[in-house]
Amino acid sequence: MTMHPVYTQPDDYAVPGAQVLVFATREAMAREAARRIAEACRAAVAQRGVAALMLAGGSTPRRTYELLAQEADMPWADILVLYGDERMVPPDDPASNAHMAHQTLLSRVPIPADNVLRIAGESGDAAEAAAQYDAALRGVAQERGLDATQGVPVLDVVLLGMGDDGHTASLFPYSTALDERARLVVPALAPPGAAVSQRVTVTLPLCAAARMVVFLATGPHKAAIVKEMVTQPAEAARRYPAAQVVSGGDLLWLLAEVDGGAGEGALP
Ligand code: 6PG
Repeated sequence: MTMHPVYTQPDDYAVPGAQVLVFATREAMAREAARRIAEACRAAVAQRGVAALMLAGGSTPRRTYELLAQEADMPWADILVLYGDERMVPPDDPASNAHMAHQTLLSRVPIPADNVLRIAGESGDAAEAAAQYDAALRGVAQERGLDATQGVPVLDVVLLGMGDDGHTASLFPYSTALDERARLVVPALAPPGAAVSQRVTVTLPLCAAARMVVFLATGPHKAAIVKEMVTQPAEAARRYPAAQVVSGGDLLWLLAEVDGGAGEGALP
């Protein structure tokens, strides 16, 4: 019997152009996220012989990655894994997004090393690392025959998180990186108090070309930001980089524990 995901689509989360699913628990959200990512990757490989999956950093995606590693019948030999952003630290540093993805997913699946395109956080020079990643991303897209929209590689799945200030990847509020339309990857500076200040991040055009963009966000504060995208879309887009993200295909927001605990969002 197919288990239907335990989620609702409340009207006060009806973000224009997006589908917003509210889950009672993080676990339910992670299960649905892993299922949809796996489904999209299998379909991409079946239709075009390759899938391009861009991973998010931070802590929210951890459980999704652990569950994705358990998905059966995944064509890992034909799945390219990219990163939406990275902190300028070595890959074995606990603050590294590549470190988290390796621990929870990539060390658990038979993915060829050449299929994983890591941002060189160890290089010590964010501008250089960004330029290298931009070139490498475009190169692998060409080599592996990814489609392109106006010269921008079309990724199959772009996974994103959102910070409490509405940042996504390492696109921070009021950053000039938000206006970047030519480069796909740029250096970034996180605000004081962030885990690591020197960063590398993808830019909005790469998300806008993707077939599916999936946000994962938990807790009442982030839920309130999503509600603002409904009630004050222009102000939300000005204040929150995540609100500026569009997709070339599906835009999906998966929320959990919007009231602070397992409660609202659970189907009866
Ligand atoms: C990063 C992430 C960042 C993250 C948000 C949410 O490098 O920090 O790419 O955009 O998704 O900060 O982080 P949490 O999931 O830990 O709340």
